[in-house]
Amino acid sequence: MTRPAKIAINLNNIVHNCKLARQLHGGKLLAVVKANAYGHGDLLVAQQLAEYVEGFAVACLEEAVVLREGGITHPIVLLEGPFSAQEIPDYLHHQLTPVIHQIEQYAWWTEVASSQGVWLKLDTGMHRLGFQEKEINNLINNSNTPNSLSIDVLMTHFANADTIEPELVQLPMERFNRVLNTLCSEGSVANSAAIMLHHHLRSNWARPGLMLYGVDPLGRKAAEVGLKPVMKLTSEVIALRWIEAGESVGYGSTFTASQPTRVATVACGYADGYPRTAKNGTPVWINGKRVSLIGRVSMDMITVDVTQHTDVQLGAVVELWGDNISVAEVAECSGTLAYELLCHTHRPARVNS
Ligand SMILES: Cc1ncc(COP(=O)(O)O)c(C=O)c1O
Repeated sequence: MTRPAKIAINLNNIVHNCKLARQLHGGKLLAVVKANAYGHGDLLVAQQLAEYVEGFAVACLEEAVVLREGGITHPIVLLEGPFSAQEIPDYLHHQLTPVIHQIEQYAWWTEVASSQGVWLKLDTGMHRLGFQEKEINNLINNSNTPNSLSIDVLMTHFANADTIEPELVQLPMERFNRVLNTLCSEGSVANSAAIMLHHHLRSNWARPGLMLYGVDPLGRKAAEVGLKPVMKLTSEVIALRWIEAGESVGYGSTFTASQPTRVATVACGYADGYPRTAKNGTPVWINGKRVSLIGRVSMDMITVDVTQHTDVQLGAVVELWGDNISVAEVAECSGTLAYELLCHTHRPARVNS
């Protein structure tokens, strides 16, 4: 018998979410499948989305090569570009598109591949990656630059796309448009939050990540905004016991029963990607009901309060997140974001539906 912790990926729902991104944005879609498609399986997701998107985005060569060797022929954009000049031959061999965001990369690329198209990144206020507006102007007008870049797309990434305050995206967008108009014909600005919230931030290419996986970046319930959850993390009850009032549960005795309490132990813990920081009261779904996590999450197990649910027996199926409990809610109860939880699921057995 195998360990009961499992991840199921609903591939139909990923297509549904992708169609919503298309409908809301209207432009071309560069599906973000870095970090193993946010824990969902990069090649699996890319193969499923191949007929619905124009390209894919990843973070590094290793991720891009998995897609190419798996038969993906779409444009693949590497969001951080080359980390050294030694990587450039692999870019050319696999026909990969770098994001060029600093002068060293510009030099590496133009030395060997100036005619191959790139995405150029503008820093519009995030101050993480990208050229400043002034730097780009100098770059273009500097006659000492030996070779020029062939820029296919100008891109930027907003620091505050998930805010409803318009000025936090308006100023970056104005900066972006000023440069776009002098540089190339195609732009890319929108991540999931911008696609869902700022419909006026139009550009040729959108870069949806989180929304493809059925999570609203603004924390609203998926169904309310037309998204469908994609990942389901489930396991089973492997032990049951009654404890008396005054007795505690788990490492550090962080939960003490105020009444006789029936405790179900579930085979899923932080080694499976369930967050160790989940608080007492984090919702868990068993036999069609929401119950509460009690006690500290351990490496392979959690404990839940099933006092009211005598129908819960050994082997009962438990949903940690999925259709009934959203990963965003578990993240909120754990002081983190759905992004982090999805990316951290590695040990559970995987099935696709
Ligand atoms: C440059 C860039 N674009 C798009 C995305 C996708 O963002 P989201 O998952 O919020 O849609 C990311 C994700 O980190 C990113 O780094």
